[in-house]
Amino acid sequence: MAKLIAGNWKMNGLSSDLETVEVIARHSVNAACDVLLCLPATLLGLARNIPLSLGAQDCHTQTSGAHTGDLSAPMLADVGAHAVIVGHSERRQDHGETDQIVQDKLKAAWSAGLQGIVCIGESEETYKSGRTLDALKAQLDGSLPNSLSGDTVIAYEPIWAIGTGLTPQPHEIESIHTEIHSYIINRFGSPLPILYGGSVKPANAREIFSLDNVSGALVGGASLTAKDFCAIIDAG
Ligand code: PGA
Repeated sequence: MAKLIAGNWKMNGLSSDLETVEVIARHSVNAACDVLLCLPATLLGLARNIPLSLGAQDCHTQTSGAHTGDLSAPMLADVGAHAVIVGHSERRQDHGETDQIVQDKLKAAWSAGLQGIVCIGESEETYKSGRTLDALKAQLDGSLPNSLSGDTVIAYEPIWAIGTGLTPQPHEIESIHTEIHSYIINRFGSPLPILYGGSVKPANAREIFSLDNVSGALVGGASLTAKDFCAIIDAG
C-alpha cells in the first residue's frame, strides 16, 4: 500500500501561504505516496480548488449547535476537507481532551464522511519510566470505539518528539508500531495504517519509512516549507 504523508500546519498559515500549498500540490502529482495537508480551517475553503487532498486538525463532537468558536465535521467537509486529525497531543493538553472526547470526535468525523486520523503518544516521563506501551494501549482502548465504521488512520506521536528535533531510535519506532499493529489486529481483525509523527524531516524520513509497520508520517514543522515537505514526499 502507498505510504501516506500528512502535513499538519497547526496554527500557522495566512492566505499568502497558499502559494506553498500550490507548490506541494504540483509536487504531489508524481509522488509515489499519498499526500494530505491538514490546514488551519481558515485556509480550507481558500485552498479547496488546489488539486491536493486537504484535511482539518480538529472537529467538534456535534454536527451543529450552541458551541461558540467550534467547527463541526460537516462544516469542514463542506469547505473541502477529506480528513480530520482527532486527539492530537496539543488538543489533549491545551483543551483537556479525554480519550472519550477523541472517540466521539472520530465518530463525528466518520458521520461526515471524513477520514479520522487518531493521534496517540506518550509523555517524556512515561517514555523514561518504560511505560510507553501501557499508555498507548490505554489511549487506543479509549479513543477507538469497538467497531470501526469509517476510514481510520492511527498516528503514533511521542509527545517528547514533537517539535523538539528528538526522535526515538529507529528500532524503538519499529517495535512500537509493530505492537500497535498487533493491538489493532487483535481488537478489530484487520490492520489500520499507522503513521509516525514527531520531528520527521528530510534527513530522517527515508529511514523511518523503511521500518516495519510504518505506513507514513504526520509532519508538523517540516510541512510548512515546500522544500522540506516535498523532500519528505520524495522519501515516501
Ligand atoms: P513536528 O510535529 O513534525 O513539528 O514534530 C508533528 C505533529 O505534531 O504532528
